[in-house]
Amino acid sequence: MLERVDYDDRQHAVYSAGRALPAETARLWSEVFARWAGASKPSTALDLGSGTGRFTPILAETFGGRVYGVEPSERMRQRAEQDARHPGVQYLAGRAEVIPLPDRTCDLVLMFLVFHHCTDRRRAVAEIRRVLRPGGRVFIRSTFSDRMPDLLWHRFIPGARRVEQQMFPTLTEVTELFEAAGLTVLGLDRIRETAAPDLATYAQRLRLRAISTFEHLTADEIEQGFAALDRAVAAGDTPGPITMDSDLLVLGA
Ligand SMILES: C[S@@+](CC[C@H](N)C(=O)[O-])C[C@H]1O[C@@H](n2cnc3c(N)ncnc32)[C@H](O)[C@@H]1O
Repeated sequence: MLERVDYDDRQHAVYSAGRALPAETARLWSEVFARWAGASKPSTALDLGSGTGRFTPILAETFGGRVYGVEPSERMRQRAEQDARHPGVQYLAGRAEVIPLPDRTCDLVLMFLVFHHCTDRRRAVAEIRRVLRPGGRVFIRSTFSDRMPDLLWHRFIPGARRVEQQMFPTLTEVTELFEAAGLTVLGLDRIRETAAPDLATYAQRLRLRAISTFEHLTADEIEQGFAALDRAVAAGDTPGPITMDSDLLVLGA
């Protein structure tokens, strides 16, 4: 079991810059969320593990209702309160295992790169079930260790793939947990987004180490990886844009 990453330690300081969402990517995810919400336009959504609020205002803009952003890291939440304010959004301290909302408050729960951080996944799923209204949806954007995408940075830092294999649950583990709580799998979507226009920009962003995987790598692994990446940038033979595939699991209550 990997040690828990506390976003109050280092990630909060680099996350906004290292994970900035270009307008085109924000639009892409908004369209994906709208497509999977279907006709059931959510009037209340929960961004669970909302971090710096990358997706919280996007949910409010996409659906027009109220959105709660629940986040355990005080410093990530402060960033969201500063930089991702929106009249429809309210940020709250809390975590998936203890959601600070009454029963049946939400039509939609989004967990974007959060589920693998939950220390008690069964309890988190029970809490999600509790706050969902009948007919509600759950969007889990995650990597699943049994269907890992081929990410470019893993080729330069092979240890990262090894760490992520341990860090992420399998698709079966996640679906079984939700099915046991009475939810149904509605779909699994593979989304391709542009990570950077070219390798130099990609390398620059990666150097911020705004991915929790880095907290489990040794200084040597990181240094060697960045040296290899710098050589590839100098060689100029990796064509841009750099794309990245990710999975979205959709469940219904
Ligand atoms: C990779 S970040 C994702 C943040 C945001 N969803 C995004 O995509 O920008 C993971 C976030 O999950 C939060 N987190 C960690 N454990 C959590 C838990 N048990 N419940 C809810 N959020 C948690 C972290 O503090 C961090 O802000």
